[in-house]
Amino acid sequence: MTENESDTFEIGSRTVHRLGFGAMRLCGAEIIGPPDDEEAARELVRTAVDRGVDFIDTADSYGPGVSERLLGEAIGDRDDVLVATKAGLLRNREGEWLAHGEPDYIRNQVLCSLDRLRTDSIDLYQFHRPDPDTPFEDSVQAFAELKDEGLVEQVGLSNVSVDQLETAREYVDVATVQNRYNVGDREEADVLEACEEYGIGFIPWAPINGDDIDSHGDLLDEIADDHDATKRQVALAWLLERSDVILPIPGTSDPDHLEANLAASQLSLTDEEVRRLTEAGN
Ligand SMILES: NC(=O)c1ccc[n+]([C@@H]2O[C@H](COP(=O)([O-])OP(=O)(O)OC[C@H]3O[C@@H](n4cnc5c(N)ncnc54)[C@H](OP(=O)(O)O)[C@@H]3O)[C@@H](O)[C@H]2O)c1
Repeated sequence: MTENESDTFEIGSRTVHRLGFGAMRLCGAEIIGPPDDEEAARELVRTAVDRGVDFIDTADSYGPGVSERLLGEAIGDRDDVLVATKAGLLRNREGEWLAHGEPDYIRNQVLCSLDRLRTDSIDLYQFHRPDPDTPFEDSVQAFAELKDEGLVEQVGLSNVSVDQLETAREYVDVATVQNRYNVGDREEADVLEACEEYGIGFIPWAPINGDDIDSHGDLLDEIADDHDATKRQVALAWLLERSDVILPIPGTSDPDHLEANLAASQLSLTDEEVRRLTEAGN
């Protein structure tokens, strides 16, 4: 496997490969409860790490608790794997995701996450989504304090605007931002640009647009055919080419899909293909 500097990104003092793994899909249906086969889920995580994945994204709300617990059971606390988790969303039986950024709640959640992930400090702790009922600054301040106290190594944000990113930077060093972004959805392009300007990692969630890959049209198919690749691999390769600060975290519960997604980091698109894909979404 060839590797160059642009294959990796620095989060604090840690260097990770830019193509990571999203662990949301380890849970049961609707991301509530455990999967049917927990050992298969743990094995998938171990396979990902054996194949070189050293950046894994999860959240307390996935399951809730299930994705973090499975990660803790599968790999525990490894120096060579950066596990990024999040707090700030509650779940209910209807499967809704409810923003909750109250500082005491965040302080409670970090303790739960430490236990499930079997670690003494969270590698990257992301505020999942601003809560309209809690001043954004108060939530961010809680994350800043957790970092000062050593419970958290790096702080990230998710689902924020450029204004919110800039506000948060007045309180804490923001290592990453995780917003929805993929070849078919560029709504958050301004946040990506801000991350590039500040040298902050940009983690595009739904990097292959979940189950809606077909909405990307014929161009993906055409380029995929030319490379004997799949359109999902082209979608991931485009993200990796799009910006050196992008860290895609494709999510899967299927070992074959994992292999296919990891192979996307070896797919080299031409400048012309990158340009056409970029322009198709503008
Ligand atoms: N910050 C946020 O608000 C937020 C929101 C959503 C997600 N996330 C994070 O982002 C990660 C990725 O997001 P996502 O899972 O929604 O979207 P995604 O990675 O774009 O797509 C995942 C979906 O595509 C399927 N898939 C993956 N690889 C495939 C392949 N090679 N061939 C065919 N199907 C494939 C998966 O099903 P199979 O299991 O069958 O492969 C799953 O249904 C999550 O794991 C989570 O960590 C964050």
